Amino acid sequence: MSTIDDATAAALLDAAREVARHAHCPYSRFHVGAAVLAGGHIFTGCNVENASAGLALCAERVAVGAAIAAGECELTALAVACPDAPPDDRQKHLPCGACRQVLAEFCAGDFPVFVDGGGSYRLDDLIPQPFRLGGPGA
Ligand code: THU
Repeated sequence: MSTIDDATAAALLDAAREVARHAHCPYSRFHVGAAVLAGGHIFTGCNVENASAGLALCAERVAVGAAIAAGECELTALAVACPDAPPDDRQKHLPCGACRQVLAEFCAGDFPVFVDGGGSYRLDDLIPQPFRLGGPGA
């Protein structure tokens, strides 16, 4: 895995926990926060739900979008926090499949994903065979 020092990982996890507090999740009551490190800066996102259920935005994709919108397309690491998930229910802490595919657009297989209370993963542990048309993550 590309190396991220412990202090940086801790800062990313702190940022993910903090932004989860801003989630708009009146339907699921499931707060999610994500923090992306890109270009030496931390970009954050939370889930944003809608009365029209299919319009919900995931925290990870909001954070990735913030980095891209700032012109930072080289993503270094991601942290995600799901404070409402039971600590021992690992699958409720991991990024969904759509978010994994979006990460694969920009990130190589060794991209580190830190899960609050759940250790760390390489992106290719989470999505071994992403769909590709030859973008930057290819
Ligand atoms: N959610 C995320 O923000 N990220 C994920 O990877 C999985 C799910 C959000 C979407 C919805 O607001 C809530 O969690 C419950 O699915």
